[in-house]
Amino acid sequence: MAIALENPFLVATYHSPAYFCDRAEETKQVTNALSNGRNLTLLSVRKMGKTGLIKNVFHQLQKKKGWQTLYVDIMPTGNLNDFIRLLGRTVVEHEWRQSKSYLKKIATLISGISAKLSFDTVTGAPKIGIDYQTPQESEKSLSEIFHYLSAQNVKYAVAFDEFQQIGQYPEKNMELLLWSHIQHLSNVSFVFSGSNRHPLTSMFADCGRPFYQNTALLFLEKIEKNTYCRFIRDKFAKHGKSIATELVKEALEYYSVHTFYVQYFFNRLFEHTETTVTKALVEQVHRLILEERSPIYYTYKSLLTPYQFQLLKAIAREGGVSRPNGSDFIARHNLKQGSSVNRALSALVEREMVYEENGVYHVYDVFFSKWLAKIF
Ligand SMILES: Nc1ncnc2c1ncn2[C@@H]1O[C@H](COP(=O)(O)OP(=O)(O)OP(=O)(O)O)[C@@H](O)[C@H]1O
Ligand SMILES: [Mg+2]
Repeated sequence: MAIALENPFLVATYHSPAYFCDRAEETKQVTNALSNGRNLTLLSVRKMGKTGLIKNVFHQLQKKKGWQTLYVDIMPTGNLNDFIRLLGRTVVEHEWRQSKSYLKKIATLISGISAKLSFDTVTGAPKIGIDYQTPQESEKSLSEIFHYLSAQNVKYAVAFDEFQQIGQYPEKNMELLLWSHIQHLSNVSFVFSGSNRHPLTSMFADCGRPFYQNTALLFLEKIEKNTYCRFIRDKFAKHGKSIATELVKEALEYYSVHTFYVQYFFNRLFEHTETTVTKALVEQVHRLILEERSPIYYTYKSLLTPYQFQLLKAIAREGGVSRPNGSDFIARHNLKQGSSVNRALSALVEREMVYEENGVYHVYDVFFSKWLAKIF
């Protein structure tokens, strides 16, 4: 039996279904798509739980006979060669974990992608070095990796997380290049996951592009409030602590049921709770979180122009705004008229400080939003 975690509110990793709230329907949807050979794109605003959902699906899929999973977070990659290096390394490390005789198995792959193989002196894990000079060499290697996967007698689910990152590559043909390979693989299904930023959404908005035609779209929403409330109370109870339903619901509302911020708050609240949560303790933990983050938030402030900061503060104070150009909003917060709002708003969206959803603009970081509304 797995050891129970000291603090049941995870803020950085996935552990197991026991520490994962709900997402039953979404887990089923993604699992069904992948196991029936359909590719899927998973979108949401940041920190809503996409990576967690993928890990939860993979946790279940790995138990299915004949299924193997590869998780690739492409956030650190900046071009096609980085992408190939990371994908190659993921496949090689996966094989190393699968079997002792992996070296024989991957020999053709290693030579096919012209990689130099070395080994971690501590863990013994294989590492590959790759240095391509021409686009032709790169594209041939990408093809070799996919060919390797297609030749195995296994069904793979592959996740490319932070997929919007390919929009930053200098290679502008990434979508088509990937599709030219992916469409021929009958034993590999893909989930492309990313935050709801422009590059990824435009892959869907434009019906001439391969993603629009070839993957189903799942937009990850907030966890249902009552379900989340039960999960939270249950975790306290399992550790001999208690919290009233009303306090949980208030906190869920306060953090807009945004998964990461909820998890983080309850992680800290749990840490400070002896037996029973009081309203005073809740207030204290709200304050503590903002105090700890204050130095970072002052840095954010210094990165913005005074006008951008004023607009950001106004959005935070209102807890979201649907008509930032409206004369009432402008008057309430002493903002200047018209075009300066638009310009500042675009800059804030571009810097991922503000996002728009269903026509409402919000400050992206919920803690930052609370800090802005409180401190200034
Ligand atoms: N259903 C859930 N139940 C409990 N905790 C969750 C759940 N989903 C996610 N989390 C936790 O919330 C945090 C944020 O989730 P996650 O990293 O999956 O979000 P994300 O959408 O991938 O974020 P980003 O856009 O920054 O990559 C993580 O620490 C994770 O452990
Ligand atoms: Mg993620």
